[in-house]
Amino acid sequence: MPITTISSIAELRSTLDAARAAGRQVGAVPTMGYLHDGHASLMRAARAENDVVVATIFVNPLQFAEGEDLADYPRSIEADTELAEAAGVDILFTPSVDEMYPFGPVLTTVTVSDISSGWEGVTRPTHFAGVATVVAKLFNITGPVHGYFGEKDFQQLAVIRRMVDDLSIPVTVVGCPIIREDDGLAMSSRNVYLTADQRAAAPVLRAALDAGLAAISDGERSPDAVTAIMAAVIEDEPLAELDYVAAVDAATLETPEHLDGDTRLLIAAQVGKPRLIDNDGITIQS
Ligand code: PAJ
Repeated sequence: MPITTISSIAELRSTLDAARAAGRQVGAVPTMGYLHDGHASLMRAARAENDVVVATIFVNPLQFAEGEDLADYPRSIEADTELAEAAGVDILFTPSVDEMYPFGPVLTTVTVSDISSGWEGVTRPTHFAGVATVVAKLFNITGPVHGYFGEKDFQQLAVIRRMVDDLSIPVTVVGCPIIREDDGLAMSSRNVYLTADQRAAAPVLRAALDAGLAAISDGERSPDAVTAIMAAVIEDEPLAELDYVAAVDAATLETPEHLDGDTRLLIAAQVGKPRLIDNDGITIQS
């Protein structure tokens, strides 16, 4: 079936209501567009598990702070439509800002406290409320059985899972693995901002994660020792400036006294214009 593009909430709702009335289940893949294979992996997962796949492309102003890249966030609707169609998407929902926020700034927001305030939340204190609010809206608009999100944005995934649990939203959140370039750089729409030199330096985040994982595999259990090893890798790369590095409990995103069980290494570094984030996990058997 060729892909259908819909920009109106009312039209999307009536189309999906008809599908649901015919017993068809909806899977949703929220994105901000400028799609790459990481997004496509979510769409393919949705295709495999749902009757109707809706991908959304909406650069959500609510999750950008003053001075961030809202105005120049990369956009490419034609290439995006092709990629989404090839990945098996049935409906591409492309609302305008006015369609999503017709009354101007929203008075109602969803804040997932605690889990939003560390790591990304330190430099982006309003970001996750913007994400949670738009994802809640997109869930309300699309009524999916499954919602697909990447582990690339590990804290975002945790925030959305917690929102769904706290508010009893009837959506199963599916987390999908990080898709990387051949040299280990996690795919991201913002990688387009990198100059050639910066692009060559950017896999240093993957190298730092590998160093942290190797230390844990060798028996290191101190979060501080692991993060020091990771930070040293970034400090060796003059084009990268470390923002944060963390070794956390994968469920709570809190730093334990000693690493044990499902553990996640998180890293963020500025490489030229973009702030790149990455993470990887390891299960420690005590
Ligand atoms: P965006 O950055 O476009 O990402 C959309 C989805 O694709 C997110 O769930 C993200 O984690 C996933 N993704 C991005 N790069 C990936 C990669 N390399 N491998 C696997 N998955 C990847 O995240 C957002 O948009 C927005 O915050 C959104 C959830 C749409 C709310 O506005």
